[in-house]
Amino acid sequence: MSYLTSLQTKTKLPDGPQTPGIILVIQSLIDSFGLLEKNQEKYGDIFYVPESSMFPSCVIFSDPKAIEKVFTADPSVFDIGADPSAPVRALLGDNSLPVIEGVRHQKQRKLLMPPFHGKRIANYSQTMIEITNEVISQWKVGQTIHIHDYTTEIALRIILRTVFGLDEGEKYDHLREILLDWLEIFTSPWKSMFLFVPALQKDLGSWTPWAKFVRQRQIILEILQTEIDRRRENPDTLGEDILSLLLTASDESGEQMNDDEIRDELLTILYAGHESTASTLAWTFYWLHSLPAVGAKLKTELDSLDKNADLITINKLPYLNAVISETLRMNPVEAIVGRQLKEPFELMGYEFAPGTSLFPSIYLTHQREDLYPEPKKFKPERFLERQFSRYEFIPFGGGHRRCLGDAFAVFEMKLILATILSQVELELLDRRPPKSVRRGLTFTASGGIRMAVKSKKITG
Ligand code: HEM
Repeated sequence: MSYLTSLQTKTKLPDGPQTPGIILVIQSLIDSFGLLEKNQEKYGDIFYVPESSMFPSCVIFSDPKAIEKVFTADPSVFDIGADPSAPVRALLGDNSLPVIEGVRHQKQRKLLMPPFHGKRIANYSQTMIEITNEVISQWKVGQTIHIHDYTTEIALRIILRTVFGLDEGEKYDHLREILLDWLEIFTSPWKSMFLFVPALQKDLGSWTPWAKFVRQRQIILEILQTEIDRRRENPDTLGEDILSLLLTASDESGEQMNDDEIRDELLTILYAGHESTASTLAWTFYWLHSLPAVGAKLKTELDSLDKNADLITINKLPYLNAVISETLRMNPVEAIVGRQLKEPFELMGYEFAPGTSLFPSIYLTHQREDLYPEPKKFKPERFLERQFSRYEFIPFGGGHRRCLGDAFAVFEMKLILATILSQVELELLDRRPPKSVRRGLTFTASGGIRMAVKSKKITG
């Protein structure tokens, strides 16, 4: 390419839809994945959406080299951006990890990382198995269940225990119920809309979704505050849990986090720590039961385990790992991850101005035919045949904002699946494939996946 052509390419922007912002928001609420695919078909591997009254200019891409460039760039190049982060702020608060920046973000990540990584995760295994057993003990043979309700209950109880430690009881049940009720507000894409359209964030009476959302959020924050006060007043209640960590942490200058910061981080972990795991697990149950050969192969692998198999062995089971990876590929909980530019940035031959949001698309990357032949087919074997790079398989995003709970979530999903599949036989009742639908900030399977309990080894 001549110098002149290269200069021209750099000043030009990629093609992309010229649709008005509000229409794009509505289209993406109804069918984000379909919209991404349509635009990729029309404009190729990278497309540009100009600035509108709804959001700043953005560029969406799925090329692993471009994704690598973004995920390995110096974090100081990026800003969280007031507009792109508005839905997360509305849900989780201004002090939540996904919306704080710079040194503050780095410090809080460093603080929150250890409980979700390395040997510490294994400490939760007993809790994970125990809670799964408690929940499935409620199932009766012949009963119809929506598996997503139960994966949500299991994942929420596990993260509550991780956050607050072993000190459970009525007040945690109360918090769990309120959290579930609060998240129920987002059960449809339409109900999620008010998170994305600031004009709808108005209190027009107690029956309106926004008013209900704000009221319940306030109740949750009050419960969290009561617990913070209780722990502060009784230092002997401090342990190894996340709340204790947040209460005792201080930076080099000895400064501690204030209560607003602690509350927002607690809410973030409670939300992020169960919602995506529950959705991914529900999808896994769907695939295992809609493709009997896949289900049977996993069952054979689990049955081959020694009765006293340790957690490391379960964690390393190749087919179990491949099934979970393939689910995360097919049904990512987020369609894109965002980084807003603070400085000019070159990507795929184009130069983007500060203020532009860069969106590596998880969904489009996972649908690339060159990486994943027959991408619409659920084939766990592809993860046995090939190792994908951190820029080709990106269910947990990447770089300085990569999911904090990635290792915890994968370990947890393996234990929950192994525990349920080794004791209960389920049958899929809905033959029509579910769709990925928006639920708040993430995507989940439509209809919650209806199944029947065919048989179980335990009593109940
Ligand atoms: C299957 C389960 C999960 C999936 C698919 C998932 C996916 C993601 C994705 C895509 C992001 C955005 C990353 C980026 O911008 O590059 C993220 C961020 C995050 N996730 Fe997860 N997640 C899961 C489970 C968890 C769990 C169990 C926790 C518990 C701690 C968690 C905590 C977080 C936090 C705190 C962030 C924000 C990180 C930051 O901005 O520094 N996630 N997750």
